[in-house]
Amino acid sequence: MQTKIADVVRRIRPSVIRDMALRAEKLDHVISLGIGEPDFHTAPEISRLALQDAESGYTHYTPSKGYGDLVEALCEYLNRYFGHGVSPEQIAVTSGGMGALTAYFRVVLNPGDEVLVPEPYFPSYRPQIEWAGGQLVPVPTSFEQGFVLTPEAVERAITTRTKVLMINSPHNPTGLITPPEILDDLARLAEEKDLLVLSDEVYDRLVFDGRRHDSIFHRPGMRERTTVLGSFSKSFAMTGWRLGYAFGPEWLIKEMVKVLAHYTSCPPSVSQRAGLAALRQDASLVDAMAAEFQTRRDLLYEKLCHFPGVKIHKPTGAFYAFPNLEAITDNTEQFALDLLYEEQVVVIPGGAFGASGQKCVRMAFTVDCDRLTEALDRFSRFITKQMERKKLRRTGA
Ligand SMILES: Cc1ncc(COP(=O)(O)O)c(C=O)c1O
Repeated sequence: MQTKIADVVRRIRPSVIRDMALRAEKLDHVISLGIGEPDFHTAPEISRLALQDAESGYTHYTPSKGYGDLVEALCEYLNRYFGHGVSPEQIAVTSGGMGALTAYFRVVLNPGDEVLVPEPYFPSYRPQIEWAGGQLVPVPTSFEQGFVLTPEAVERAITTRTKVLMINSPHNPTGLITPPEILDDLARLAEEKDLLVLSDEVYDRLVFDGRRHDSIFHRPGMRERTTVLGSFSKSFAMTGWRLGYAFGPEWLIKEMVKVLAHYTSCPPSVSQRAGLAALRQDASLVDAMAAEFQTRRDLLYEKLCHFPGVKIHKPTGAFYAFPNLEAITDNTEQFALDLLYEEQVVVIPGGAFGASGQKCVRMAFTVDCDRLTEALDRFSRFITKQMERKKLRRTGA
């Protein structure tokens, strides 16, 4: 009977991130730097207001693109906070950033159309693209070049089937931000080659060292061809509410709403009320969370810099570090499993994000500083052991 499963689903490999989590569940004293979600709970005031709204009757289907007052508030937020200069007609609220990805690819992809995706990349991009009939074409980046997507590499990957260029900044899994001059170049290239642009900016509020989030949407000519993907998940610690959004050209958003109406009808009503409460709360709450991630980033970076065999770029956003371990191991998958079983620390092998990430592991600094310190002590002990084992193997002892 299993042969009846659709090829496009059978081809999808189970999530490495979920697999590590399942293994970890069976062990004691685990510290997980695995799954990418804030460890903070949603602010109690947000939950309280959402539940209050539920009690007063916000429990019905909503417009497919979200409640009018939420779309208005989101519009005001995007314009005030990021200067995006959008209108409510250019916005659709979705069931998580994931829901926006689903609708976007369904709207723009014909069978065989190609989407250029900087590698390493968020693993869900591939199934999302393939389920809509498209092809993910990875554009490799390298640790040596700071995982920066070069316009030359993008240009080399363009074919007659290329329809969309994806960007993800701040970036999962590297925690790096695309430099402004690269966004300039990519925008010029997208215009020259007549590509649509999908910019995944779900980590837009989590940027460090006084930076302001920057978007390709602001480059000349981009408003007509760029759709930006956003989410309440990371910025407002609301992963479980499943609330995201997209904004872009009105003609494209209109088509996305058509798709959303038939996929999910609408995003969950109570989650939308929570989203509205989140946008109305004091901005300092989000800033405090971002500041805490920066403190953890500092702690992690300082320590990893001094570990033998570890190379690392300083993360500038999101809550991930992506250290290179090629001096320690040539198999980061095995490394991650051994680390879990010997020291009960979860990291994600970089190959889960595509071949360009193979020599690295992803560490999410989504535990408090004490637990992070403990995890790094265990990590340090483990790599010392690994280096010794490697030396013994080399000398044949
Ligand atoms: C780069 C990126 N895009 C999109 C998402 C989807 O987020 P959500 O559906 O929770 O909004 C994630 C979640 O980890 C992500 O890392």
